[in-house]
Amino acid sequence: MAKKIAIAIDGPAGAGKSTIARRLAAELGYCYVDTGAIYRTVAYFLDLLGISPKDADGVARYLDELTVGITYDEEGKQHMIMNGMDVTEDIRTQEISQKASLVSANPLVREMLLDLQRDMAKEYNVIMDGRDIGTVVLPRANMKIFLTASPEVRAKRRTAELEAKGQTANYEKVLKEIQQRDYQDSHRAIAPLKQAKDAVKVDTSELDIDGVVAAIRKIVEGKIGQ
Ligand code: DC
Repeated sequence: MAKKIAIAIDGPAGAGKSTIARRLAAELGYCYVDTGAIYRTVAYFLDLLGISPKDADGVARYLDELTVGITYDEEGKQHMIMNGMDVTEDIRTQEISQKASLVSANPLVREMLLDLQRDMAKEYNVIMDGRDIGTVVLPRANMKIFLTASPEVRAKRRTAELEAKGQTANYEKVLKEIQQRDYQDSHRAIAPLKQAKDAVKVDTSELDIDGVVAAIRKIVEGKIGQ
C-alpha cells in the first residue's frame, strides 16, 4: 500500500480548524478526521453513565465497555458511533465540550484513542485536526499547521455559530468557557495543546475563511505538490 499523506491541523477551540480542514479535505480529496469528536464521544458515554470526567477510577472501570467507531456518510460527513449508536449530533453541546476537555487529560483515555487515530492515517490521505496531532498522534505528518485566533475572536465566532443553530448563546459566558478550555487543554501533563516545532502558525483573527483556505492550500502545494 502506498504511503499516505497526512496534514495535521492543531489549535485551540474555535480557531476555525474544522471549517478549514473540511474545506481543504474536499478540495484535495482527502479524508477529514475530526479528533475532538472522538474525545467528545468518550465524554458523552461517561455522562450517560453519570461518571464525572475527573473521576479517574470511574473512567478506568467503564472504559472497557466503550467501543468508538468512525464512519463517513455519502456526503463525506464524519459520524461518531458509540457502542453501535450514532451520537454525532448528541456530542455537540457546550456541556460535552467541557467534559471532553476534562476527560481528555486522562492518560488511559488518550492511550485508548491513539490507534484509532493512527489507523485512519494508515488507511487514507488525511487532514486531521485536534490538539496533539502534530506533536503526538502523527509526529511525521507531511505538513503541520497550528491555527490560532484571539480568545475574543473565537468567542465571537462560537456565539454566532450557536445562534445560527438556534441555541441561546451569551458572549461573555462563551468567552469564559473558551478561556477555561484553553487553560485545561494546554496545561495537562500528557499531550497538551502546543505548537509542534515544525508547524506553520496561522493566526486567523484577521483573516476570513476563504483567505485561510487559500493560504494553507498554497503551503500544501509548495510542500506536497498537490
Ligand atoms: O476540538 P473539540 O472542541 O471538539 O475538542 C473537544 C476536547 O477534546 C478539547 O477541549 C480537548 C480534547 N481534544 C484533545 O485532547 N486532543 C485532540 N486531539 C482533540 C481534542
